[in-house]
Amino acid sequence: MNERILIFDTTLRDGEQSPGASLNVFEKLEIARQLAALKVDVIEAGFPVSSPAQFEAVQRIANESEVIIAGLARAKEVDIKSAFEALRNAKSPRIHTFSSTSDIHILGKFGDSKYGITLEEKRKTVLKMSYDSVAYAKTFVKDVEFSAEDAGRTDIGYLADIIETAIEAGATTVNIPDTTGYNFPSEFGNKIAELKKRVKNIDKAIISVHCHNDLGLAVANSISAIQNGARQVECTINGIGERAGNASLEEIVMALKVRKDIVNYFTNVNYSEIYNTSKMVSGFTGIVVQPNKAIVGENAFAHESGIHQDGMLKDRQTYEIMTPESVGVGKTKIVLGRHSGRHGLKIRLKELGYQITEEELQKAYDAFLELADKKKEVFDDDLRVLMGDEIYKEEELYELEYMHVNAGTKTVPTATVRIKTGENVIQESSTGDGPVDAVFNAIERALDIKPTVESYSVRSVTSGRQALGESIIRIRSGENSFTGRGTSTDIIEASAKAYLQAINQFNVYCNTKVEINENGISIK
Ligand code: KIV
Ligand code: ZN
Repeated sequence: MNERILIFDTTLRDGEQSPGASLNVFEKLEIARQLAALKVDVIEAGFPVSSPAQFEAVQRIANESEVIIAGLARAKEVDIKSAFEALRNAKSPRIHTFSSTSDIHILGKFGDSKYGITLEEKRKTVLKMSYDSVAYAKTFVKDVEFSAEDAGRTDIGYLADIIETAIEAGATTVNIPDTTGYNFPSEFGNKIAELKKRVKNIDKAIISVHCHNDLGLAVANSISAIQNGARQVECTINGIGERAGNASLEEIVMALKVRKDIVNYFTNVNYSEIYNTSKMVSGFTGIVVQPNKAIVGENAFAHESGIHQDGMLKDRQTYEIMTPESVGVGKTKIVLGRHSGRHGLKIRLKELGYQITEEELQKAYDAFLELADKKKEVFDDDLRVLMGDEIYKEEELYELEYMHVNAGTKTVPTATVRIKTGENVIQESSTGDGPVDAVFNAIERALDIKPTVESYSVRSVTSGRQALGESIIRIRSGENSFTGRGTSTDIIEASAKAYLQAINQFNVYCNTKVEINENGISIK
């Protein structure tokens, strides 16, 4: 057997749909470069029609990457056109279009009588929409993927019809998503086997699967699908994604590698880049990897009990089915400090997966020296935070120039902030329930706004008592929410930065418009 399994990474699309994740275009570009170093086969870079920022990110990744770049599109002409415009300069563009196919979705989403009155009529409309969308996408690119959304709960006869129709229209990959993570491994594997039997033209397309993790079965379902004929798996770094997430890339590829005796397939993935990629994604998205997470968690290779440690000293294989080095977890921890030079910093950043220009290096070095002044020892995790915070930061409308806080056990917390916006500086003071509340109130006064704060958190992202603190805040305006992240050795400052970043995101959203007309797309 020993057939190749294609790895379709959707960290930048489904992964970015994780609650709280927000990546700017520079961070997405850097992750895409790292995914290329990891040697995935396809990078799904985003959903271009959904927002100007998504469109720009897909476009910029497509412009520079050698890897197949996919852009998501609903079965609508406007989406497909937008995806093509974003992918226009890609070396290998793929349009990924999808329709909902389960009865629950069809009845829930296509209630309007224009889709038909009865379920049978609506199903017919969806079949036609699926054909038309693939055929339309084919007028732009050769490589078209079709997904039957909620295939996991779709009637198998109807699913087979839909898949056959999509292939007839020209789909080169047909994706079977378990959108709600509802299936069991044997059930999902049988579905793939059944489709192979029922769909007449199935040999003309690659079968893909896309499993969500609502019951914690996404990886098991993906492997079962491979055993039954799937040759592409869609997955994300650290398993991030909608709700409970997607199948985790690192778990799938390592399961295939370690259990070759059972699943004799191979991927092109460069295993030694797994750890760096995991760290980069966690650092940029702010989504923490649980310590006991398989493959990339901090404890994945830690041995605590005496019996285990004793066994490990005698023979590593007693308690280790793969080595940490095999997934890129370094044995030695390199610590940089005040006296480390630019060159040393550059080499370490490269080892951690960051491909930076000389100009970015200068910025990184200045930020590094500032940090090294506050903290004696600068660890890899500090560098990762610094990269996310300083180097890939977008130019922002409002920047915190100065902050002063007065708080204690028997004082009313007060804060003064000075915010820079272009050539102007706005200064305001306020009191609050605590120092963070006082700072937030001062910012709101300075900018004359009062957003709804949906969530706010602070945690330490590096080790030791001089650790960097990270604050994440989500604000809401109508249907949209905006996330900001800030880091500092001072958690009040981190909170202020996070709040301003969320406000900046909101402003970018309000001031940007994508127009689609006969000449294509323009971002304003
Ligand atoms: O989960 C899902 O069904 C999806 C599709 C768009 C592929 O993400
Ligand atoms: Zn999904």
